Amino acid sequence: MKGTVLVAEDDRNLRRVLRAMLARDGYEVAETPDGEAAASFLASRRVDALISDIRMPGMDGLALFRHCRERHPELPVILITAYGRIEDAVEAMRGGAFDYILKPFDEAELLRVVGNAVATSAVADREGASAPAGEWFGMVGRSPAWLEVRKVIEKAAASPFSVLITGETGTGKELVARAIHRISARRDGPFLKINGAAIPPTLWEAEMFGYEKGAFTGAVQSKPGRFELADGGTFFLDEVGEVPLGVQGKLLRVLQDREFERVGGVRTLTTDVRLICASNRDLRRETERGSFREDLYYRINGIPIRLPPLRERREDLLPLADFFLERTWKDLGAGRKFLAPATVEVLERYAWPGNIRELENAVARSVALSDGEEIGPSDLCLGLEETERPPAPATPEEERFHASVREHKRAVIRRAIAKAGGNKTRAAEILGLSPTYLSRLLRVLEVEGKGNGNGYNRS
Ligand SMILES: Nc1ncnc2c1ncn2[C@@H]1O[C@H](COP(=O)(O)OP(=O)(O)OP(=O)(O)O)[C@@H](O)[C@H]1O
Ligand SMILES: [Mg+2]
Repeated sequence: MKGTVLVAEDDRNLRRVLRAMLARDGYEVAETPDGEAAASFLASRRVDALISDIRMPGMDGLALFRHCRERHPELPVILITAYGRIEDAVEAMRGGAFDYILKPFDEAELLRVVGNAVATSAVADREGASAPAGEWFGMVGRSPAWLEVRKVIEKAAASPFSVLITGETGTGKELVARAIHRISARRDGPFLKINGAAIPPTLWEAEMFGYEKGAFTGAVQSKPGRFELADGGTFFLDEVGEVPLGVQGKLLRVLQDREFERVGGVRTLTTDVRLICASNRDLRRETERGSFREDLYYRINGIPIRLPPLRERREDLLPLADFFLERTWKDLGAGRKFLAPATVEVLERYAWPGNIRELENAVARSVALSDGEEIGPSDLCLGLEETERPPAPATPEEERFHASVREHKRAVIRRAIAKAGGNKTRAAEILGLSPTYLSRLLRVLEVEGKGNGNGYNRS
């Protein structure tokens, strides 16, 4: 299963068509006939994306979208609108909707948009969450390294320049991009983002610059791109290293002259956008290899911001853990919980290759798994999201060590599944993993089998 999609659509036939297309492509589909039903469904169930018609009786798609921004800020919302009523969808995009689809739509377009939404839902922002004191635009930290970064963020926000944020996975690049927007003079303008990792090379140009009807197969209607929609605001281009060489020239032009054309269009359009890019690749090296234009690199790198990995800001580890702890127990409606001293010791010894995101997941699942007020070391499971195989054990001691780590992981997963009453999607949520990743883990660790294989043989 690729993920769960909720469809809110009053037209029964269209609902059926959507269900069929999505189910055929491997999604689990839930459907509701109006906005109220969708809102109450979302109150008790987690989905990976919402597709909603804009025009529905009662609570319409825009009201449902506003409800989701408040209550489920991480949920990607895709709106369906009729041709001729595109302004509504554009307005919603500027307010943070994930994307929109024009009726009549074709299957490939639908599946592409939904695929992108589901792929990015895991890394969506958490701006809506309430937070204890000491945070700054949703970010916690007091280490010297972080305070340095904060100064650069403020300078970048006050300037009109492009910003390039680099850092390992999970170091907070997206959160920083949002902070820059919210501090800057453009704060009342739109913030749009695009995730380079989720876009096939052939669609880059259309996503960024839009297209005119008939520009390519499947372009049944004209559609503005992200640069057009972000006019007056900020455009966050995540994984900028993925932009194909063939489109880089057009990107350079819009940055230099603010001018571009839609794909298949003849009209030259203008847009006033601040670009923030992020990358966890070394773009300078890519310019040397010729896969990234050097002139573009200098353009986007107006103000560089390098986010330190968590291991270089150890002082922030416990404040961050406390921050996530409090947020999680409040979210879960559980009572106050705290970390046992032995648990703190384990956290402090760990290397955190997945940085702040890994810490966030580890804390959240320990809260969900712990029974009492105190979170013990056995409620923690570090390295659950590790994808690499550990080095092959050479001695019996090493073999025993690996076996005990695997057994611990199995135990944690079994407990999560038990807590979730056997529902694996819910268990994945408790563990802070995607359902797909959890099913892979179940297989690799042979949780349901005999559980005595060495578990890391190719999956
Ligand atoms: N300083 C911070 N305080 C609190 N939470 C943070 C902080 N930095 C990052 N986070 C949280 O950590 C997670 C990862 O952050 P984010 O998505 O911004 O990282 P990223 O660098 O974009 O990662 P990737 O390269 O994998 O996309 C998010 O859930 C974010 O809310
Ligand atoms: Mg990111």
